[in-house]
Amino acid sequence: MATIYAKAFGKTILFGEHAVVYGQPAIAVPVNAVYAKATIEALPKTNSHDALIVLPNLGITRNLSDFADNDPIRTAISITRDYLSIKMLPAMMITIASNIPIAAGLGSSAAVAIATIKAVSQFLGFSLENKEINDLAFQVEIIQHGKPSGIDNSTITYNQPLYFVKDYSMELLVLKNPIKIVIADSGIRSLTKEVVAEVRALYQKEPDTTGMIFDQIGDISKKARAEIEKGHLKMIGNLMTLNHQLLVRLGVSCNALDNLVDVALGNGAYGAKLCGGGKGGIIIAVTPEIHIEKVISALITNRAANVFMTTIGSTRDKE
Ligand code: PMV
Repeated sequence: MATIYAKAFGKTILFGEHAVVYGQPAIAVPVNAVYAKATIEALPKTNSHDALIVLPNLGITRNLSDFADNDPIRTAISITRDYLSIKMLPAMMITIASNIPIAAGLGSSAAVAIATIKAVSQFLGFSLENKEINDLAFQVEIIQHGKPSGIDNSTITYNQPLYFVKDYSMELLVLKNPIKIVIADSGIRSLTKEVVAEVRALYQKEPDTTGMIFDQIGDISKKARAEIEKGHLKMIGNLMTLNHQLLVRLGVSCNALDNLVDVALGNGAYGAKLCGGGKGGIIIAVTPEIHIEKVISALITNRAANVFMTTIGSTRDKE
């Protein structure tokens, strides 16, 4: 049997993280500079129904049954198998490689789950619709993150910029022009689940002020949608910085992220903000073309662990 492979790109949230968990709109886009790839080969000479899992980035080669029950890869495979009503897996080796930094706000866990679900279903002879892949990936995210909004798995599955409202709607955003985004990784790793729980505790303690911050973030997402569709970079940048300030008030930033945002702004970016769960991970910046190189080198000089650029809204990324 031929080798099967499937890819899933990373994602970043342009506007609305955390508030999206409480029903406010958010905007997220695929990041095609990073991706997870699952490759499956049949092992015809083996009788085992226990898939062999190879994770080259982590130096792990192990049978599937040796992974913890709630491990995301094990969960992605078993959820897919159950959905397809497959009782026993054929003998196979699944290699999952990813260059998406883990716990950095780039959707690593959702991308790994989606690449795995796609490859396993194809290997078993099924061609799943995006909606089915998205629903399965969301189940994996729930086991990993508790109460996720679903924005990560949706953006990565559909591989398009999305205007997303939890449990309500998901619209594909059409950008007037492609937008270049600078991404700087603080190098600090932080678990989204924990930060989301801290925000929940804050909301319980101070419902009025926290609820007001969520509303303000939601308003920013609404305004940003129109500016993104019109391609007004300066306005998009201004709204990003305002969004960052509100995330600071929610307590999800940290010195390293604030510093990277300041460095981007101080070197000519129109705007910048942290992305995803926060307390580590990445910041993004929207920058006039002439300042992009300056912003990138300033971020590197000022202790970003990694800086790269991605273009959103150009063409749909090929898998
Ligand atoms: O940290 P990430 O990239 O998984 O993004 C999480 C986004 C949150 O809004 C904080 C949580 C969620 O489930 O939407």
